[in-house]
Amino acid sequence: MTTAELTTTLHEEVRALAAQRGAVILAHNYQVPEVQDVADFVGDSLGLSRQAAATGADAIVFCGVHFMAETAKILSPEKTVLLPDLDAGCSLAASITADQLRQWKAENPGAVVVSYVNTTAEVKAESDYCCTSGNAKAVIDAIPRDQAILFLPDMYLGLWLEKVTGRKLNIWLGECHVHAGIKPADIERWQAEAPDAELLVHPECGCASQAMAFGNDRTHILSTEGMINFAKASSKPRMLVATEIGIIHRLEKEAPGKRFEPVNRNAFCKYMKMITLEKVRNSLRDWKFEVEVDPEIAARARGAIDRMVALG
Ligand code: 13P
Ligand code: SF4
Repeated sequence: MTTAELTTTLHEEVRALAAQRGAVILAHNYQVPEVQDVADFVGDSLGLSRQAAATGADAIVFCGVHFMAETAKILSPEKTVLLPDLDAGCSLAASITADQLRQWKAENPGAVVVSYVNTTAEVKAESDYCCTSGNAKAVIDAIPRDQAILFLPDMYLGLWLEKVTGRKLNIWLGECHVHAGIKPADIERWQAEAPDAELLVHPECGCASQAMAFGNDRTHILSTEGMINFAKASSKPRMLVATEIGIIHRLEKEAPGKRFEPVNRNAFCKYMKMITLEKVRNSLRDWKFEVEVDPEIAARARGAIDRMVALG
């Protein structure tokens, strides 16, 4: 069997099993093309959380990383949430533990805690607000200006938020190894080589706050779904993309005829790529791996997540 035939067979198997099991398949924009293509919904963290909260399906197969599946489980506790590979973690979520956050809170009494969605359920349970890159600005803007804020765990997103909200934040020094690896030099090289192209930058990038400093109207700091919407709406034919390379597939699919180039071809998240079509099939067939969240932690995390889903 050729690779293409195998993909088609697996795709059909997955769709048949999903129908039989009453499962919806949600996939993040960084998933491999064949997983994106088999999903019911493909989107960013915010869109997928909203889908998880709203779905009428009995089960959710989450093609993404562990914190995303946990968030889906907290939003839909009565549903079975399956993650096809439990090792699909996130270096950013691993950069702060609940103990570290408790310590940080104790050192800053009275501060409001805003956690990026890339955190464990335990960290969310210690947070007042949760946000994604899609609504981080709206979440900060919703908090009174004189209120001290602890923002975690992504320092580049935090620095970008300080610029766009004009507020001082206490920022945790965490980073995503994939986005931190996209450097200002990558942007400069590309902008010199492609002066006609629009530049789409994820705020987790090491270059995001500097990209703003380039200050031209061709630079856009966007969540992954924001990039898709921008590409669809723009009349520009060429775009440089500063985020994980998996998004190129979706961009090409949603905005056909345009040219999309990653500014760094090594921006590859090994955790996102752990989910393969075969593992999605196995997940549905063998009903594994169920993601559970301790009900007490889930109840405490729920308020912060509800605020995230409601805003922006
Ligand atoms: P988005 O919410 O923009 O999709 O980002 C998720 C993520 O993990 C970025 O690395
Ligand atoms: Fe985590 Fe970075 Fe991978 Fe996103 S790209 S899931 S932040 S490690």
